[in-house]
Amino acid sequence: MNSNIPVLAIDGPGGSGKGTVGQILAQRLGWHFLDSGALYRAVAVAAVRDKINLDDQAALARLATSMNIRFIPRTDGSAAAVLLNGQDIGDMLRTEESGRLASIVAPLPDVRRALLQKQHSFRQPPGLVADGRDMGSTVFPDAILKVFLTASPEIRAQRRHKQLIDKGFDVNLPRLLDEIRERDARDAGRAVSPLKPAQDACILDTSQLDISGVVEHVHGLLRERQRPG
Ligand code: DC
Repeated sequence: MNSNIPVLAIDGPGGSGKGTVGQILAQRLGWHFLDSGALYRAVAVAAVRDKINLDDQAALARLATSMNIRFIPRTDGSAAAVLLNGQDIGDMLRTEESGRLASIVAPLPDVRRALLQKQHSFRQPPGLVADGRDMGSTVFPDAILKVFLTASPEIRAQRRHKQLIDKGFDVNLPRLLDEIRERDARDAGRAVSPLKPAQDACILDTSQLDISGVVEHVHGLLRERQRPG
């Protein structure tokens, strides 16, 4: 592993703000950005496209290993384009259905193992901001700073509702809340890499904070860690 390249690990449940915060910080620092959830989503979307059964662990792991996936950041700050074998599947990945399918393949140990190497390959100079569920606990245990963002399920459902409405989707708030609770339970209850903060993570509840408040707080923590001596 390129252990002298710094990693900022930002973990937490969906809707905690980690993706937005991570992208802003990556841009500000001039570091690379890894949206690890997009890798799980891409495995699920590609499996459905290739008619692979979502419980066929060996076939899913082969698919995960062979996937050529690249993120192309956009200069306007909107979500990066995601190229799977050259085709932009970014919009397809961000649907609720892709998230649901991803949470079915994510507990499979062979899939997680296959994606581990891929995630390590994003660690390139001058640094990496990695966002997910187990960046600090499993994938980059030597991260310079590990942050775990939380927010109540109700707040996360409201944020997701607003995001989807802004994108022109017709969504129902109580159903989103049910889905968030269901996905939290699946992510936290699985045997491999369950959703829980790394022992040495800084835990930050974002329920009462806006994005810029979280960005400044995390950036301040990072600067402290980077201070020599
Ligand atoms: O963050 P997200 O909603 O894009 O994640 C999609 C699914 O993938 C979600 O069920 C959690 C899972 N995931 C994971 O198990 N490990 C990660 N590092 C990132 C996401």
